[in-house]
Amino acid sequence: MSAAVSLVDPAAAAPADVVIIGALSPASGLVLAPGAEAIDKAMGGRLLAGLRAVGAKGRADEVTKIPTLGLTEPPLIVVAGLGDQDPAALDAEVVRREVGAALRALSGTARVHIAIGGTSSAPGADTALLAAIAEGALMGAYSFTIYKSSPPPTPLRRLSIAAASPRDRLAKAALKRAQIVADAVTATRDLVNTAPNELYPQTLAERTAEMGRAAGLTVEVLDERALKRGGYGGILGVGAGSVRPPRLVRLTYAPPRAKTSVALVGKGITFDSGGLNIKSAMMDWMKSDMSGAAAVAATIVAAAALRLPINITATIPMAENMPSGSSYRPSDVLTFRGGRTVEINNTDAEGRIILADAIVRAAEDKPDYLIETSTLTGAQMVSLGTRVVGAMGSDDFRDLVVAAGGRAGESLWPMPLPPELRPGIDSAIADITQVTGDRWGGMLVAGHFLSTFVPTGLPWVHLDIAGPAWNAGGPHGYTPKGGTGVIVRTMLATLEELAGA
Ligand code: BES
Ligand code: ZN
Ligand code: ZN
Repeated sequence: MSAAVSLVDPAAAAPADVVIIGALSPASGLVLAPGAEAIDKAMGGRLLAGLRAVGAKGRADEVTKIPTLGLTEPPLIVVAGLGDQDPAALDAEVVRREVGAALRALSGTARVHIAIGGTSSAPGADTALLAAIAEGALMGAYSFTIYKSSPPPTPLRRLSIAAASPRDRLAKAALKRAQIVADAVTATRDLVNTAPNELYPQTLAERTAEMGRAAGLTVEVLDERALKRGGYGGILGVGAGSVRPPRLVRLTYAPPRAKTSVALVGKGITFDSGGLNIKSAMMDWMKSDMSGAAAVAATIVAAAALRLPINITATIPMAENMPSGSSYRPSDVLTFRGGRTVEINNTDAEGRIILADAIVRAAEDKPDYLIETSTLTGAQMVSLGTRVVGAMGSDDFRDLVVAAGGRAGESLWPMPLPPELRPGIDSAIADITQVTGDRWGGMLVAGHFLSTFVPTGLPWVHLDIAGPAWNAGGPHGYTPKGGTGVIVRTMLATLEELAGA
C-alpha cells in the first residue's frame, strides 16, 4: 500500500510523528529554508542556534534530527541540508534528493509532515517544488523486505506537505502525478530486487501482464511456441540454454483521440550468467538485467494512470541467459523475426539479440517514435560511470529525451553513433555480426547494432542503463541500495511531452 499524501495549510496543525524542514548553507553561514517559520516560532526562535550547537551546516546530504522534548508537536524536527542555493528558487532535484535522504533516515516512521517552501499563495507558484518534495519523500521511503523473516519496519503511511494554497488545482494534480511516478519507480525497483530464482521469464511475464491488466491495458503474452511461430529466433536462441523458456510480453495503451504513438522496448534478461561465454566478473549484478523491462512496464502503467492522450505499446522480450547443453553457441547463426540473420560471437552480448527481435516487432505497428532501454553494456559504465545514462539514436529525438530526463531529475548524456564503428559488425557469413573483435566504443557499437533494426526515418532512442539501474554502493538521496527504478521518470516525461500534456 502506498502512503496517503495530502497538502495542508502551513498554519494548520498536521498530525505527524516528525516534521521535516530545510536548511541552506550560504557562505555567510547556516540559514533555515523558507517554510520553517512556524516550527521555528514554536521553538521560540531558537532553532538556528540549536542547529549550530550540534554542528549542522545545511550542506547537501546532511540530515539533522532535533528532538524537541515536547515543546513542539510533532516532537521531532528533521532538518534536511539543501546546500548553497537561492532560497527563493529552490532547485527541484536537490530538494527531491535531500527530502529522500531525510525519509531514509526516518525508516519506521508512519506519519511525516514536510514544511519546505510552500510559502507563495500564487496559483501554481510552488507546484514544481511540491511535486519534487512528494517524489523525493515517496522514493526515499522505499524499502524491500519480502525476504526478511523479521517483521518489516512500519512503512510510511501518511505524508503531508505544507502548501500556501492546498486546494489549488495545479498543486493537487502535481501531487497526484508525483504519487503515480513514485508508484512506478517502486514497481520497477521491486521487480529488479526480486531474486532471479523467483523472477524468471514466465513469472516476469505473469507479473507485467498482471500490472497491465490492472491498469486496463491490452495484454499479449507469447510463450515459446508462439515465439517459434512468430519467427523470434533471437529471443529463442538466447533463451535456449535455460530450463525456463523465454517470453515476449506486449502491453498496449490506446486512449480515445490519441494522435501520436510511441513504442517502448525494454531488455528483460532475468539473469545474465553470460551463457557459454560465462561471466568472469559482476555476475552478482545480473539479476538487474531486466531493469529495462521493468521500467518499460511500469512506465506504460503510469502513463495509463495519468490518462496521457497518446498511444503506447510496450514490447518486452524476456529470457534467462544460461550455459548448458542446449545453449546457443558463439558461431551460431540466428534468424530474427523479419528474416535477417546474425552471427553470434559472444553469448554474453545477449541483450542486443533479444532486443533486435523486439524492435522488429515494435516497428511493425508503425509507431511515430521508438524508445528502447536496456542494461546493455559494461562499456556504458566505463564511459559514463554508474549514475549517468548513455543516450543514442536519432539526434533530435535523442536530445529531446535527454532534456526531458534532465527535467525529471535523471542524468542522461547524449552519445554519438560514429559511422566508422559500423563496419566493425559486418559479418563474413551472415547479415550482421553481434560484436566487434575489440573493446573500443562498446556502448556505441551496441547502439549501432540496434540501429540496424530500426526502420529508416523512425525517430528512436537507445538508453543504456547498465550502471544506473543498479546501486551496488550505499544509498544516497532518494536512491536505495539495489534496484534504482531509473529511466521511468525520463520515459514518462518524454511521453508527456509527446502527448502535449
Ligand atoms: N548485461 C550485460 C551488461 C552489463 C554489465 C550490465 C555490467 C550491468 C552491469 C550485457 O549483457 C553484457 O554482458 N555485455 C557485454 C557485451 C560484450 C560481450 C560485447 C559487456 O558489456 O561486457
Ligand atoms: Zn551479457
Ligand atoms: Zn545482459
